[in-house]
Amino acid sequence: MSGLEVRGRIRVPGDKSISHRALMLSALAQGASRITGILESGDVHSTAGVLRGFGADVPTLGASIVIHGRGARALSAPASALDCGNSGTTTRLVSGIAAALPFSSRFEGDESMSRRPMRRVARPLEAMGARVELAAHGGLPMTIHGGALHSVEWQSEVASAQVKSAVLLAGLTANVPVTVVEPAPTRDHTERMLLARGVTVRVDGTHVSLTPGGPLRAMDVAVPGDPSSAAFLIAVATLARHAELVIEAVCVNDTRVGFVRALADMGGVVRFENARQEGGEPVADIVVESATLRGITVGGDQVPAMIDELPLLACVASRASGETLITGAAELRVKESDRIMAVVANLRALGVQAEELPDGMLITGSDAPLRGEVRAHGDHRLAMAFGVLAALPGNDITVDDRECVRVSYPGFWRDVERISGR
Ligand code: S3P
Repeated sequence: MSGLEVRGRIRVPGDKSISHRALMLSALAQGASRITGILESGDVHSTAGVLRGFGADVPTLGASIVIHGRGARALSAPASALDCGNSGTTTRLVSGIAAALPFSSRFEGDESMSRRPMRRVARPLEAMGARVELAAHGGLPMTIHGGALHSVEWQSEVASAQVKSAVLLAGLTANVPVTVVEPAPTRDHTERMLLARGVTVRVDGTHVSLTPGGPLRAMDVAVPGDPSSAAFLIAVATLARHAELVIEAVCVNDTRVGFVRALADMGGVVRFENARQEGGEPVADIVVESATLRGITVGGDQVPAMIDELPLLACVASRASGETLITGAAELRVKESDRIMAVVANLRALGVQAEELPDGMLITGSDAPLRGEVRAHGDHRLAMAFGVLAALPGNDITVDDRECVRVSYPGFWRDVERISGR
């Protein structure tokens, strides 16, 4: 426990997953949808830009924007390649829409994005009748030759909300029923938002089926706070000497709050207050107190609900007593960086005992001060996870690339300073 005092109330920016989906579904709907609280970050700008590339009327992002949707049929062939930047969600979800449109679309991204696997979406879209060209390594650039699609029941090999959503959006846009079977349940924002817009979506355990109907309804969306961004502030407060932090209006969808559950198992003190439903998503204020933590074991079905928080969990585990074992998380190797390699290498560089496993890591916690330079590999979640350790008094840590947080949480460093005074 460090000599840090954390107090106050704060809001984190809008949820990234919900922001992407709100833009896409509003552009595909018939009529005006107002979106408030959208995340104004690099990745969401990528989705807005890609949708504009198809001729959708997407204004400059702001606190309250209106999208006048004209349905999928009004979308037109992009005049040039679609720049997905660093955003896997943009690339994979929009690929589902593109597969059902009667023209070709070329997707490009930054260096990290170009390394990430695309066969996982190409295969189901090809099974539905689209033709997909990928670079030899199975990544971007990707060209989708879309057109009329047929129905599919797709058994996904990876637990990925992006793959599931790509198939659902292909079915929606092509007007054909689809079913996706996942190895484990993943975030369900696409399903919730489609239901709210009048689409028939049935969920039965790991089976998700969509039956298209009439035109997609326009609908206002209030984007709740992002639990993946809140997690960093929850961690700072937990590791402080004294803390009473309230993070207001955060999405607490079960498929997203695995980190909070894991932290509670470690001895963390986190409560959800003022729980309510907003726009089909559970929302609450998150109250965090400081705590003394012990190591835990996480794996299997627990992983999807904290997939983006595992680098943070590893950093937090370095401050707990005993060992923390993370398994079943091989997906971490194909995120914005190889997050198993990078987290372990950075923890070791700071003096933490940590080991790589093929599908996870083993971390031994201590209260020894941590010193050294962290290499973020341009990966926002790494910069922020180690930024949490850097905020703790007694540690002397620099992060080589602080700017990369812009893709998901541009105000991260300012917010950490606000709650911790550091
Ligand atoms: C996301 C799904 C997850 C997650 C990503 C956002 C989404 O990716 O890691 O940050 O919005 O659907 P996978 O579906 O590839 O696991």
